[in-house]
Amino acid sequence: MKVTDRKSPLRLMRRLIFIIWSRLSRLPLLFRFRWQVLFSGTSVQNDSSLLIEHPVTIHGIGSLVIGKHVWLGFKLANNGLPPILLQPRTANAVISIGDSSAIMNGTEIIAQMAVTIGPRCLIGPSVSFMDSDFHGIAPDQRGAIGAMAPIVLEENVWVGSRAVIVKGVTIGRDAIVGACAVVTKNVPAGAIVAGNPARVVGSVYSLRVSKEFDSDCYQAGNSNI
Ligand SMILES: CC(C)(COP(=O)(O)OP(=O)(O)OC[C@H]1O[C@@H](n2cnc3c(N)ncnc32)[C@H](O)[C@@H]1OP(=O)(O)O)[C@@H](O)C(=O)NCCC(=O)NCCS
Repeated sequence: MKVTDRKSPLRLMRRLIFIIWSRLSRLPLLFRFRWQVLFSGTSVQNDSSLLIEHPVTIHGIGSLVIGKHVWLGFKLANNGLPPILLQPRTANAVISIGDSSAIMNGTEIIAQMAVTIGPRCLIGPSVSFMDSDFHGIAPDQRGAIGAMAPIVLEENVWVGSRAVIVKGVTIGRDAIVGACAVVTKNVPAGAIVAGNPARVVGSVYSLRVSKEFDSDCYQAGNSNI
């Protein structure tokens, strides 16, 4: 089989066309983003290193703080998913996304208080972050706004596809949340959690959950899983 030379003029030309096409295809998404920054009522801070490859919807009257080299959406992922929703709903609500973090297509972040995503975090597609129940628990309180508490992801957390992170959860640095997990309790640093409700199934610091790791989890105080 004949393999085209990687440096052949044809290959280089194709590569150049691909690069130009990729850059141009981002322009409407950037325009959509800028339009919403102007008209959504949300206070938005970001710098020019922001990379957008999937539609983003900004909604709410709170604040959105986006760090450097943040990546919103991925063009090779499922483009049929809804826009990434960044919704700091109330005047005091803050969503912040740390430097070099990436958020994939269809993810929604809804804050009544605060959702903080640390630096270098990877958030998979269709993940939900909700820092409020949005309804009271008692039968006659369903019309009330319900309990709320901030969500925090420390540095270098990876959240798998379709996970749900509910109010008050802190996910420790380097931890992994498995696909489709429902995280209701704090996750220790380096833990791999999965399932509904999410439970520790491993550690990124060792292949198996060692006794030492287990006791560390519980000694950490804020680690409830
Ligand atoms: C969490 C994850 C990284 C764990 O990978 P791993 O360390 O290789 O884990 P293993 O496959 O050894 O599984 C360990 C245990 O957890 C269970 N498990 C792993 N992922 C699970 C999940 N998402 N839900 C429920 N259980 C899960 C396994 O069944 C296994 O259980 P067992 O010990 O009783 O057999 C991986 O399973 C996962 O969910 N990846 C997400 C990928 C993704 O969504 N990417 C999106 C792009 S960002």
